[in-house]
Amino acid sequence: MAREFTRVGVVGLGTMGAGIVEVFARNGVDVTAVEISDGALERGRATLTGSTDRAVAKGKLAEAERDALLARVDFRVGLHALHDVDLVIEAVPEHLDLKQRIFAELDRVCKPEAILATNTSSLSVTEISVATTRPNQVIGIHFFNPAPVMKLVEVVRTVVTSADVVADVEALCERLGKVDVTISDRAGFIANALLFGYLNHAVGMFEARYATREDIDAAMKLGCGLPMGPLALMDLIGLDTAYEILDTMYRRGGRDRRHAPAPLLKQMVTAGLLGRKSGRGFYTYERPGSPKVVPDEYTPLAADAALADGARAIAKVGVVGSGTMATGIIEVFAKAGYEVVSVTRGAEKSAKVCEAVKTSLNKGVVRGKLSETDRDAALGRITWSATLEHLADVDLVVEAVIEELSVKKALFASLDEICKPGVVLATTTSSLPVIDVAMATQRPADVVGLHFFNPAPIMPLVEIVQTIRTSAETSATARAVCAKLGKTGVVCGDRSGFIVNALLFPYLNDAVKMLEASYSTADDIDYAMKLGCGYPMGPFELLDVVGLDVSLAIQRELYLELREPGFAPAPLLEHLVTAGYLGRKSGRGFRDHTRR
Ligand SMILES: NC(=O)c1ccc[n+]([C@@H]2O[C@H](COP(=O)([O-])OP(=O)(O)OC[C@H]3O[C@@H](n4cnc5c(N)ncnc54)[C@H](O)[C@@H]3O)[C@@H](O)[C@H]2O)c1
Repeated sequence: MAREFTRVGVVGLGTMGAGIVEVFARNGVDVTAVEISDGALERGRATLTGSTDRAVAKGKLAEAERDALLARVDFRVGLHALHDVDLVIEAVPEHLDLKQRIFAELDRVCKPEAILATNTSSLSVTEISVATTRPNQVIGIHFFNPAPVMKLVEVVRTVVTSADVVADVEALCERLGKVDVTISDRAGFIANALLFGYLNHAVGMFEARYATREDIDAAMKLGCGLPMGPLALMDLIGLDTAYEILDTMYRRGGRDRRHAPAPLLKQMVTAGLLGRKSGRGFYTYERPGSPKVVPDEYTPLAADAALADGARAIAKVGVVGSGTMATGIIEVFAKAGYEVVSVTRGAEKSAKVCEAVKTSLNKGVVRGKLSETDRDAALGRITWSATLEHLADVDLVVEAVIEELSVKKALFASLDEICKPGVVLATTTSSLPVIDVAMATQRPADVVGLHFFNPAPIMPLVEIVQTIRTSAETSATARAVCAKLGKTGVVCGDRSGFIVNALLFPYLNDAVKMLEASYSTADDIDYAMKLGCGYPMGPFELLDVVGLDVSLAIQRELYLELREPGFAPAPLLEHLVTAGYLGRKSGRGFRDHTRR
């Protein structure tokens, strides 16, 4: 029979501890909440009341329920208060020696049958357990931030954790309304092992001034549908905690350089910029603990002010290409009121693209998103051509032809001959260096990358890629155009993968390596990222949608350009591609799609 947990203890009421107390008390479990000092105890209490008051204000919790919840919590200073609990969860700072000391003390104070759990994100649960005389009753219960919201709990069993303790903790997670994945003791478990390389990489991009904090965060939110960008997430996690997690993962996880904390992190922690909890991290918050970002000296100027700096007037736009991207981009420009000249390689292709644009616009009408008049006006703005000469008088050209450098270079050389001076020439390449294309012309200062996402009419993001030759005017023009299209334009440098793919694909590749190492299953890894980190799809679901061949090609490019050993494509990914398992499009990838 499963063990009864009538009273539990939580040690440390910081970012995680206060949330964990709330989870238990909300589910009818009495909690003894312990801190190190009166001041820290009061801060913990304030976090809990703040969070429950917000839930009441949002109508998610009745006042009486809040009062009952708070009445279940006994706030105390000192571990001795935990003598009668059935389970303790420790959530003190991420230092092995501190945790070991606390576990040794808990072992002395707690009932012999009590389970001792750690919420560590990266330390060895095994090493923590051996500080006690009951390592078989020590387990990892890793909640996600914010604990009351995120559904996932990683249950970490060591080689000595007894099976009934694991089963009892799993049953407890279910009672708390959580979904658990049970795994063995490895640095970062599932979610953090996949998340922190990505977060650290994003910090590195910011540190290298590759893009602004707002643009990095907007790119990942809008390009990947994540609930928050990586820098905002670092602020939520706490930069001191994030630093310790990275440092431990680096040392325990095979000294992968991608986990070596970005130097900026250490500086920020030393300077007391810890994120939300201290009121300032990558962003500035209204006050310590507040989720509300307020403007500071790095906040970009309002869009119109920024656009005043030299953007050229654009009225007529040429779009070259006849594939999915070109079709979507034609529609986007025409709907936004631009005159569009579509150029394909022949009348037949033009007719096909024209049909596709019409079908898509009609769908908008059927869904009530577009009036018939607006549809007809948009179509009326497009002219169809099979010759580049028709681009002689456009103000902007967007190239969306096949992803082959020689083809793009030849096209840009032709555009250079045909187009009038002052035209902005844009490429939608997702993987080729924009500078290579720019240097095929005599006017590299006018060349920029405009990386749209698929499907272009729907995806709100465009990466604006500046090469080292792109002029400020060209870049301002690109920003103004994106704004008029109703898209969020994020500006970045000309490096493989730009922002989104450079941050996304190594994470997907890491998930494949984790599967290959048999640490967990594709299902559990997908669950962990969706329920623990709020990803709209798990990595294997996404890989199957994107296509394994496409993913492998992008990962190879990243590896070749950056020579980062951790970016080497996972052998399993290569084998699946070789075997023709390309994902949904071939019926089978990581999962079999023919039987669903
Ligand atoms: N922040 C996250 O997003 C996150 C997510 C999951 C797990 N974790 C893990 O949770 C643990 C806590 O991290 P955090 O971010 O909540 O840290 P935090 O710094 O916000 O809070 C730690 C709390 O522990 C208290 N404390 C320190 N020494 C103590 C002692 N001897 N006795 C009692 N209380 C003591 C501190 O006063 C502080 O309130 C870490 O192991 C971390 O890796 C963090």
